[in-house]
Amino acid sequence: MSTSTTYLDESAYAAALASDVRAGLTAAAKTLPPKYFYDAAGSDLFDQITRLPEYYPTRTERAILEAHVEEIATLTRARTLNEIGSGTSDKTRLLLAALDRAGTLERFVPFDVDPAVLAEAGAAIGAEFPGIAVETVVGDFEKHLGLLPRHPKRLVAFLGSTIGNLVPAARHDFFAAIRSTLAPGDHFLLGTDLVKSPARLVAAYDDAAGVTAAFNKNVLRVINRELGGDFDLDSFEHLAAWDAEHEWIEMRLRSTRDQVVHIAALGLTVAFGRGEELRTEISAKFRRERVVEELAAAGLRLTQWWTDPAGDFALSLSEPS
Ligand code: SAH
Ligand code: TRP
Repeated sequence: MSTSTTYLDESAYAAALASDVRAGLTAAAKTLPPKYFYDAAGSDLFDQITRLPEYYPTRTERAILEAHVEEIATLTRARTLNEIGSGTSDKTRLLLAALDRAGTLERFVPFDVDPAVLAEAGAAIGAEFPGIAVETVVGDFEKHLGLLPRHPKRLVAFLGSTIGNLVPAARHDFFAAIRSTLAPGDHFLLGTDLVKSPARLVAAYDDAAGVTAAFNKNVLRVINRELGGDFDLDSFEHLAAWDAEHEWIEMRLRSTRDQVVHIAALGLTVAFGRGEELRTEISAKFRRERVVEELAAAGLRLTQWWTDPAGDFALSLSEPS
């Protein structure tokens, strides 16, 4: 059985895009929110990123899952797997298979802002796991987590270190929203990329083949298409920089010339100076203490912490405290 729900229909998406783009491009330091990378083309580019030689997080997180899925299935005995920011749900198949083998799995509820990637992943998983219900949910995890169905014995998974794409205050709100949906016996599985050498981090967000550059510029394409913008993609260059104070990678687009961009649907004209930078995303890197603290501040108690042998990435399991 498969169903789909949307908390974010096309008109709500369009309204949010319009107001976020206006706010971001009229600010003194220009920014754009990262969720708009992910239209069908953006999700496809991200999928390519996960296979780049420089982008270690996906394969490392997969290896940690491979080593510990049976334990996760035993510890959680989850009947519903609820994945937030699910994308292609590629690694998630390891969890689904382990819960299926343990005999507890009844339902998979993936939640994502991109309806295209979600529909494809939901259909594929429905075919691979015919015994379970698949209920796809389109929504914004910064707005709609409170609406998630509260099935009993839920495991909520948030993989890929997508948590690092939120600034600390937004992370707190996210964890608190997750916590408020959990009942005793539910669990939260979180993937976090860890602090390491800046050279490796920068390479992971600025690959030699230019896939990350194309992904970063995709947000301009989305604005051109959805809001009648005239961004010239060739007049912006992709940049990834390590911010040692905040311990995050910052992704930016730098204007290569003085230029004026028009966004018809907003009646907006935006001037960019040569060299001016537009911040499109952060990707925070973590240490164990910070993960423990941030979870605790939202009422979540960390019970397991697993890393790869090199300590590049961590998966943690927590429960309502
Ligand atoms: N979980 C996958 C994908 C990570 S990429 C993995 O580990 O590889 C981040 C995913 O989160 C994308 O699929 C993107 O569409 C989704 N996403 C980004 N911002 C979102 C938001 N605000 N609400 C819901 N989903 C979001
Ligand atoms: N959650 C991913 C991360 O922070 C998203 C991501 C990977 C990303 N590469 C990117 C976002 C490049 C923007 C640009 O690792």
